Amino acid sequence: MTIESDQDLQGLRSAGRVVALALATMRSSARAGMTTAELDAIGENILRAHGARSAPRVTYGFPGTTCISINEEVAHGVPGERVIQPGDMVNVDVSAELNGYFADTGASFIVPPSTPEKERLCRSTQMALEHAMEHAVAGGPLNAIGKAIEATAKRQGFRVIRNLGSHGVGRALHEEPSCILPYYEPRDRRRLHEGMVITIEPFLSTRARHATEADDGWTLKGPPGTFAAQYEHTLVITRGKPLVMTAL
Ligand code: CO
Ligand code: CO
Repeated sequence: MTIESDQDLQGLRSAGRVVALALATMRSSARAGMTTAELDAIGENILRAHGARSAPRVTYGFPGTTCISINEEVAHGVPGERVIQPGDMVNVDVSAELNGYFADTGASFIVPPSTPEKERLCRSTQMALEHAMEHAVAGGPLNAIGKAIEATAKRQGFRVIRNLGSHGVGRALHEEPSCILPYYEPRDRRRLHEGMVITIEPFLSTRARHATEADDGWTLKGPPGTFAAQYEHTLVITRGKPLVMTAL
């Protein structure tokens, strides 16, 4: 969507705050020994308490409220009986609809004990998000986002998962502009404009370049032994820095 009124901005911000709160609470509650279904229920309670609905559930019939992906799982992990282990890298992605506005956020974190490589993967993925945000300016090229993500990953010695992109959001979970690639594509001539609402969500991996669908029909995975991290914000494009809708 494109923000056309103060009401749009407030509506999107309210949805963004709820998903940010759910994510932060899930992150601080995650413990070894807990199942991903238990962690998901914490997010579900927060969405419900604020009158918000899980976006993947209402949009795609996803069998959970939030997506929880562990270690070699990259995205769209289905909450269930998987028990979180010490040292797991956990990604939680929360998107929800509130009063007709959709916001989408995600983060990766490590359940102790951590390792320097896992920490570095998380930090580098956050840097990729920050760098891409610096290049997301009204009037500028859309492919500057992928260029910044790819350059950051390369500099940090990690790989970009090429088949997972960022996307337009706001009145639906996934809308135009669709397929905002996570690498530089010179043939993509699209431009960003003022008020445009998009996510930026880099996925970096220790080795994988692609995520493939698991047998459950939802989870996207890398090869065994790989780790992937993702951070995501819902943003409004301006002539300066984008406005972050998914901050607390
Ligand atoms: Co998301
Ligand atoms: Co998204």
